[in-house]
Amino acid sequence: MPSDNGQDLTGLQRKWLDAVAQASGVETLEQVRVEALGKKGEISGLMKTLGSMSPEARKDFGARLNLLKDEVAAAIETRKATLGDAALDARLARETLDLTLPARPEQEGRIHPISQTIDEIVAIFGEMGFSVAEGPDIEDDFHNFTALNIPADHPARQMQDTFYLPQRADGSQMVLRTHTSPVQIRTMQKAKPPIRVICPGRTYRVDSDMTHSPMFHQVEGLVIDETTHMGHLKGCLIDFVRAFFGIDDLPVRFRPSYFPFTEPSAEVDIGCDRSGGELKLGKGKDWMEILGSGMVHPNVLENCGIDSTKYQGFAFGMGIERIAMLKYGIPDLRTFYESDLRWLRHYGFVPLDMPSMVGGLTR
Ligand code: PHE
Repeated sequence: MPSDNGQDLTGLQRKWLDAVAQASGVETLEQVRVEALGKKGEISGLMKTLGSMSPEARKDFGARLNLLKDEVAAAIETRKATLGDAALDARLARETLDLTLPARPEQEGRIHPISQTIDEIVAIFGEMGFSVAEGPDIEDDFHNFTALNIPADHPARQMQDTFYLPQRADGSQMVLRTHTSPVQIRTMQKAKPPIRVICPGRTYRVDSDMTHSPMFHQVEGLVIDETTHMGHLKGCLIDFVRAFFGIDDLPVRFRPSYFPFTEPSAEVDIGCDRSGGELKLGKGKDWMEILGSGMVHPNVLENCGIDSTKYQGFAFGMGIERIAMLKYGIPDLRTFYESDLRWLRHYGFVPLDMPSMVGGLTR
């Protein structure tokens, strides 16, 4: 029973709830909100009359008015969500894309130089009888380090090089793989020799400047058989770099080096000429390092369950950005990841021109 000086609010309730329900768009709904609950709105206006009422009447009317206010506000929110969904649905229906349409010539995409370079590497090694293997970007300590004969106190494990994931309940910690070498391990754990694989993929190191990116790409190679020796390693890599750079007489030099997972180890340099401030690959008096390699360490074979008295082989790893920059004259590493369409149009490759040894690597 409404008190004597209180008003019956049911009419008002019906009026505003109807208005909310009938609002056909987000704008009309906002209009309704302003007229009902805005500073000068009808319900807000009634709120202001509370001050002049007797305490008794104020208590009763104020309570009912607040209920009405909350009810209208809630109705507006619900209606808003519905209208928003409807607007989104309409937009989704309006903006459908027909993916079967041919690309407009002025918007045609390009193959990124990294993808192109990987395709070229796969084409060359594919011709030599290698297949492609892949592994996870997030690795465990065993595959990224231990199995590769990298002892617990090896500097490569220290925090400044490796991205560690948060420690897990059992105390172990996953890492973002620092090289593609863990894919060697995964391959040897699964397959029986003879093995001949390359493993292209993303790798990660805590390093960022003009010539280092925290994410970059490598390609790993692994050959395991009974009589595979250093001569095979040299022949394979000489053939590869000459095919990749398209220079038949490209000088190649093997320099003794050290990696925990290979013995002996060698870094590979290609000939170049830096005179005149310009870099030219080929015969010259300078050398440029492009990859690491070596005979797989017997400990690594044994860690993967391969009998090191029966089997042996070689492995190599190289940075894909680096050889792409050298081959295609891309001066700045960071531009690879900027997704700048003008850059991509300049350095990118035409889709469908897949590199092959028969059709040619780059056209
Ligand atoms: N994993 C080494 C690196 O990242 C490269 C390498 C691979 C060297 C295989 C030798 C054999 O530097």
